[in-house]
Amino acid sequence: MRTQIVIVGSGPSGLLLGQLLAKAGIDTIILEQKSKDYVLGRIRAGVLEQGTVALLEEAGAAERLHREGLVHEGTEIAFDGMRHRIDFKALTGKTVTVYVQTEVTRDLMEARAAIGASTWYEALSVSLHDVDGRRPRVRFGANGETHEIECDYIAGCDGFHGVSRRTLPEDRISAYERVYPFGWLGVLVDKPPISDELIYVNHERGFALCSMRSKSRSRYYLQCRSDEHIEDWPDDKFWEELTRRLDPETARNLQPGASIEKSIAPLLSFVAEPMRFGNLFLAGDSAHIVPPTGAKGLNLAASDVGYLSAALIDRYKRGSTAGLEAYADRALARVWKAVRFSWWMTQMLHRFPEASGFDRKVRAAELKYLLGSKAAQTSLAENYVGLPY
Ligand code: APR
Ligand code: PHB
Repeated sequence: MRTQIVIVGSGPSGLLLGQLLAKAGIDTIILEQKSKDYVLGRIRAGVLEQGTVALLEEAGAAERLHREGLVHEGTEIAFDGMRHRIDFKALTGKTVTVYVQTEVTRDLMEARAAIGASTWYEALSVSLHDVDGRRPRVRFGANGETHEIECDYIAGCDGFHGVSRRTLPEDRISAYERVYPFGWLGVLVDKPPISDELIYVNHERGFALCSMRSKSRSRYYLQCRSDEHIEDWPDDKFWEELTRRLDPETARNLQPGASIEKSIAPLLSFVAEPMRFGNLFLAGDSAHIVPPTGAKGLNLAASDVGYLSAALIDRYKRGSTAGLEAYADRALARVWKAVRFSWWMTQMLHRFPEASGFDRKVRAAELKYLLGSKAAQTSLAENYVGLPY
């Protein structure tokens, strides 16, 4: 087979790239190792920057987002038994939209199916060949046969565990990482949210987050040890511990219930450089991972795809490779700022087991400074709503 661009991975990165390129008349084939239902079955977060919403609009996949998404003009930080609101709208003129990533993925899949673009689900043993040569090719197994696609470029949108980053020669890649000494225990429950906006909680017993999926479905997180298991956390224990980490007034609004999903996620910051190797371009989780504290994972994937699609369209429509040459540095510049912000939010809001008395005092002073300073709140707000592309 032959196409212009092979996209490995049918997550939000791969699908969004496929749609933006299709709008410009550029052919792509997506290869996904899992089934469609499996991809849609993943539990993921969903706080969208305005830049991400704009790209989904450009891709023709924002109609339901605008109908069902919840626009938030601010968020709250709870500290020392008090809640403090960070007013994004007043401080930056911008907002975020709560619309879960799984639905973003579903909307993009439907948009791709509607234009009849090619996606191979359950594409096995995908391998990349001659990525830094003249004739990049991708091989995969499907229906008991081996298939090969020749293309101009390969987009590695296959996530942290994908084959694309592993295709880069070890001596050509630099990896930077921070593993955090705790995890997030998340619970999904069909009960109204505790508040209209998200509440990020700093507490001596550990971090907590009160989030939502809709007006009738809520998502809560508790900082837990990395070695804990969901079996250690029956629902009652979860609600009891969450209540202890909330101030009494907030706790009164909590509507516990039977969890419909419960999982523990590790926290990691990771960046791989470069994000390009010959004709292979990495985008999204294949190149970087952020802890969920800053709600940046999906939004960084979107900005990567924003830069990459513009560069590829320039190449095919105007014959210019300037954008492709600049892609890796442009994407990494925004990635590192979001990695810093997610690291900072994680540092400030979590309890570190090894922290000294001095560390804890400094962390408390940082929160008091933030909650008392318009300048500091503006910095948090502009990072949270999304830095310019
Ligand atoms: N061959 C084909 N497909 C693969 C392979 C492979 N070898 N390895 C992984 N994949 C697929 C996965 O099954 C998955 O569907 O690539 C897709 C990658 O999707 P994501 O992990 O969602 O990554 P990305 O599209 O970059 O989205 C980033 O996802 O994890 C969240 O917080 C993260 O919000 C961010 C978003
Ligand atoms: C979520 O709703 O799952 C969520 C929201 C904000 C975050 C992390 C997770 O920072």
